[in-house]
Amino acid sequence: MTQRIATAELGTGGPEVGVQGLGCMGMSWAYGPTDTDEARATLERALDLGVTLFDTADAYGAGENERFLAPFVAAHRDEIVLATKFALDFSRGDGYRRTVNNDPAYIRSAVDASLGRLGVDTIDLYYMHRRDPNVPIEESVGAMAELVAAGKVKHLGLSEVTAAELRAAHAVHPIAAVQSEWSLFCRDLETAVVPAAAELGVALVPYSPLGRGFLTGAFVHAEKELGENDFRRTLPRFTGDNAAANAALLEPVRAVAAAHDATPGQIALAWLDRQADVFGLPVVPIPGTRRRTRVEENTAGTRIALTDEELRLLEPIAAQVTGDRYADMSNTAGSRE
Ligand SMILES: NC(=O)c1ccc[n+]([C@@H]2O[C@H](COP(=O)([O-])OP(=O)(O)OC[C@H]3O[C@@H](n4cnc5c(N)ncnc54)[C@H](OP(=O)(O)O)[C@@H]3O)[C@@H](O)[C@H]2O)c1
Repeated sequence: MTQRIATAELGTGGPEVGVQGLGCMGMSWAYGPTDTDEARATLERALDLGVTLFDTADAYGAGENERFLAPFVAAHRDEIVLATKFALDFSRGDGYRRTVNNDPAYIRSAVDASLGRLGVDTIDLYYMHRRDPNVPIEESVGAMAELVAAGKVKHLGLSEVTAAELRAAHAVHPIAAVQSEWSLFCRDLETAVVPAAAELGVALVPYSPLGRGFLTGAFVHAEKELGENDFRRTLPRFTGDNAAANAALLEPVRAVAAAHDATPGQIALAWLDRQADVFGLPVVPIPGTRRRTRVEENTAGTRIALTDEELRLLEPIAAQVTGDRYADMSNTAGSRE
């Protein structure tokens, strides 16, 4: 019999979801070629295992990932919590580059486009993917709140925001979740964003909780080991001298994994689960995978309880990581703090 994962409330008054969601981005974009049948089977297997939060964005393959998800969403509309995002606008640049767009008029057109591609009347959780500091956040969240009033969206979320931006947004309309990068390798948001979310009753949805696969040990040197179109080849942490230095930091993760007869990836996910207790808020990571065996492995990670001694062993890792999260950090929350 399949053992289903536990559930959590996604922010005060938010929907109940499995404590681990599924990131769907890699199924259409960013991480090289996909076996579409296996990816579809992975969506079904995730649902069997109690995963209910499925994460996409209009930007993932310029709408392709939303279109890819549509048949699965149609088959399971009432069983899942569907999250998508707006803000990365292809139309204002040269047709290739994306610009960040938080204009209310753009938000109104973006939601209609996402609803159409996903084949739904309502999006359960609608995120602002990136902040455009040229538009006051109150204006953008005001436009998002109108979408809730119109029934096009049920709950609101923000991605890569500062604590001040979260507070300003939450004052306009309740925010159910903040989605930001959080993992053993990336802990900047613990200083201000996570405490603010805990105080406001907002859930944290860690993206790239497996460090884009690096924390599993699946690769070390992105340029040498990953395919030509793989986005990770552009990321400073996984390239040049940083790659080997950062891979060496996984030693304590492997040691803890061995003690639990688990994989390093499961320990990375179990560590995030523990942060829910540390900070007193719901934490619902969304590891991305296109393979059934990995969704089985990742969800099993929710059943691993790390000891305080193990947390202490893992504590020094993030401070030693070398290289930025992105080649261009200008759209991240850290650039505005
Ligand atoms: N808000 C934002 O700005 C933002 C940014 C990035 C991502 N996201 C969201 O967050 C989700 C997750 O992030 P992510 O996909 O970037 O990174 P991630 O979840 O940290 O890692 C995904 C990578 O790890 C591999 N993987 C997954 N489980 C594994 C396992 N058990 N063993 C070995 N390898 C494993 C996957 O390969 P396979 O697919 O081949 O298994 C994929 O290459 C995305 O899908 C997306 O929905 C949001």
